[in-house]
Amino acid sequence: MPDRPIGVFDSGIGGMTVVKELFTTVPNESIVYFGDTARLPYGTKSVETVRRYAREDAELLMSYDVKMIIVACNTVSATALDEVERIAKGVPVIGMIGPCAKEAVQVTKNGRIGIIGTEATIASGAYDAAIAEEARRQSKPCETFSKACPLFVPLAEEGWTSHVATEVIAEEYLRDLNVKEIDTLILGCTHYPVLADVIQRTMGARVTLINSGAMAAMLVAEMLRLEYIAGDDIQHTAPHHTLLVSDIPRKFQAIGERFLGHPLPEARQVVWEESWTAAR
Ligand code: DGL
Repeated sequence: MPDRPIGVFDSGIGGMTVVKELFTTVPNESIVYFGDTARLPYGTKSVETVRRYAREDAELLMSYDVKMIIVACNTVSATALDEVERIAKGVPVIGMIGPCAKEAVQVTKNGRIGIIGTEATIASGAYDAAIAEEARRQSKPCETFSKACPLFVPLAEEGWTSHVATEVIAEEYLRDLNVKEIDTLILGCTHYPVLADVIQRTMGARVTLINSGAMAAMLVAEMLRLEYIAGDDIQHTAPHHTLLVSDIPRKFQAIGERFLGHPLPEARQVVWEESWTAAR
């Protein structure tokens, strides 16, 4: 069991921000990563469609005999975590929202927490609910203010991390949250850490950004230990990573490597035809 890989999926490059954290917190683990680049973005789709994609993505990872699934997509975590758990049949599933809400409530000083995410994540109210629950648990009154920022996803996919267009769009999206005097901002989409510098500059240094992947990676390390399935429990050869995408890998690898600061295995394309097959 410990030598089985961890499965990670997202609609595209966003989940790489979670992989980056996993490389630090659980460096001995092999990872199978799937970016559903053919069907991206998820965040503007209906809940029914996202739930279907989530099922199919989880099936793909299960076919790699993974020991854990990390839903490195806030949209799926907010709307379809139960579908992934159903397909996973007892294999532990970790989503983005719980760990991130906990950290935000711990970190905030004035109890004013901003959330940015895709349209689907924001509409689901999943973060507001998780923060309300956590605020009760920590006896710390908190108020949430949310904003959907759909254009951040294509900007991150394009690798426009410091482009002037990104600055202008960030200014426009984040103006309302700045007025609300939040002191903590949840990057509630795994694509957004790619644009963290621009977002931080726009919000100002007094606002703490919370990266959902970093919080989830800590939970992954804890779960692997608790379940006795950590990769460092075995005599280890170097971990072996697999990178899968559903459209031609074009820019994926280059942007992924630039962001990770780490070479990636060559991305392979898989195609959904009632089940997943390798592209011909
Ligand atoms: N990275 C994803 C998220 O965390 C989805 C982005 C998208 O496909 O819209 O929500």
